[in-house]
Amino acid sequence: MLASVRSANVLGTTGRAVTVEVHVGDGLPGFTIVGLPDTVCREARDRVRAAMLSTGLTWPNRRVTVNLAPAGFRKSGAVLDLPLAVGILVASGVIDAERVQRYCFVGELGLDGTVRRVAGAAPMVAALGSEWPEAVPVVPAANLVEARVVASGAVEVVSTLSDVVSVLVEGMPWPDAPAEPAAGTAPPEADLADVRGQPLARRALEIAAAGHHHLLLAGPPGAGKTMLAQRLAGLLPPLDAHTAVDVTMVHSAAGIALPAGGLVRRPPWRAPHHTASLISMVGGGSDALRPGEVSMAHGGILFLDELGEFPPAVIDALRQPLEEGVIRVSRARASATMPARVLLVGATNPCPCGGGRPGECSCSEAARAKYLRRLSGPLLDRFDLRVWVGRPSTEHLLGEQSGESTAAVRSRVLEARERAHLRGHGANSTIPASMLDDVAPLTADALDIVRGELERGRLSGRGLHRIRRVARTVADLRGSEVVDTADVTVALQMRIDLGRVGAVQV
Ligand SMILES: Nc1ncnc2c1ncn2[C@@H]1O[C@H](COP(=O)(O)OP(=O)(O)O)[C@@H](O)[C@H]1O
Ligand SMILES: [Mg+2]
Ligand SMILES: [Zn+2]
Repeated sequence: MLASVRSANVLGTTGRAVTVEVHVGDGLPGFTIVGLPDTVCREARDRVRAAMLSTGLTWPNRRVTVNLAPAGFRKSGAVLDLPLAVGILVASGVIDAERVQRYCFVGELGLDGTVRRVAGAAPMVAALGSEWPEAVPVVPAANLVEARVVASGAVEVVSTLSDVVSVLVEGMPWPDAPAEPAAGTAPPEADLADVRGQPLARRALEIAAAGHHHLLLAGPPGAGKTMLAQRLAGLLPPLDAHTAVDVTMVHSAAGIALPAGGLVRRPPWRAPHHTASLISMVGGGSDALRPGEVSMAHGGILFLDELGEFPPAVIDALRQPLEEGVIRVSRARASATMPARVLLVGATNPCPCGGGRPGECSCSEAARAKYLRRLSGPLLDRFDLRVWVGRPSTEHLLGEQSGESTAAVRSRVLEARERAHLRGHGANSTIPASMLDDVAPLTADALDIVRGELERGRLSGRGLHRIRRVARTVADLRGSEVVDTADVTVALQMRIDLGRVGAVQV
């Protein structure tokens, strides 16, 4: 007998509909699966068989042939276990074929018959909804929240294979959905008010958040670089509706726990360690092409602490997504394009010893030069903002006065973003050079300053565009359409030359 069960698979962050066709017939007992299954998928036989036996069902002692359609792409992982089990039960006459038609199934089976959480439920349920809008997805109970975010209608959940049998054989109702996790109070985001002093670095955070300018923080250990970077996400507005869904898809595909309610609304903050592998940074790793850190940070912040310690291959691989806002991952058998629009924040010591105040550094000139060369030039060039973060003074650290709060700074950031939005271009950091004269007009005095910098060779043509974009953001933050000398001066201050950083004042 032939059975056909609706299911899905995920590649990168995109779901695709899959039909699991099962034939149980005469011939020598055996099991064949075709239609480009990967290794995990091929092993489904053993999991499904054990799960069925544990559930008190009989594995057909006949010839079982499985086809995963369409045959054109590789099917990965264990999400096809559940539809496969249902297909076998239909093809061997245990479940009535008609009862299965109204549903689609995704889920991994444990040997004991439990239905396990899968990665990518959100993209898969989305794909099921567009392929078979009238069918009801049946998903592992642990995936309910993310399935509901994207499902247009009802979603049913199961926790064990015997739940499926109760419904489809015995005619029982579907199990109740598990209680929503208490709409818990998310851990409070670290507040800028905790940062003492550091007026320049604080300003840089504000500008970065307002104009989406990538930010490099350079300074000795203990200066507060990590502390500052952690407070940048709090300055960003909540994700817009479209981005929230994209981010939720990525986090679902990556298997990251989603917030109560399912939809990711706050910009993510990811801080991979420099020992992270290339694959974990950019994505790939299995036939399903899991999203990497640069995609998990989509819509939010990618923080690379100790930037110089990241392998050159990783740094190189980040250039394309920083340029295009998406990352393309190709493996021998598949390729995927995943969202990867991040605000990049790097932190670095100025030299191997950490340096500090002028004269404190004990490194040789050669050691310093070598260290800085590791911060690959092309990546360094992506940072519109490069600021020096000196160790806070004792007075600052012990002083009573706390800094401005995240909420206060964020309200200025939101106003500045609104101004940019009304001008009709994207983030200020992406204003095309050809538009700068229109949208970021300089006053005559401001023009004199940049002319001077160009003439003295301190600014290249490309550097000039970056300065103008940053100055545009500085002007937006004070509510001005015109960009004047003060704005340009701030922009120039935030472009320290790392090669000369030892000479920079604290
Ligand atoms: N400006 C500051 N205000 C308050 N505390 C600070 C400041 N700078 C550093 N600290 C304290 O020092 C610790 C180390 O800072 P950290 O951000 O890890 O420095 P870095 O990343 O530059 O090495 C912080 O956790 C914080 O307790
Ligand atoms: Mg640090
Ligand atoms: Zn040094």
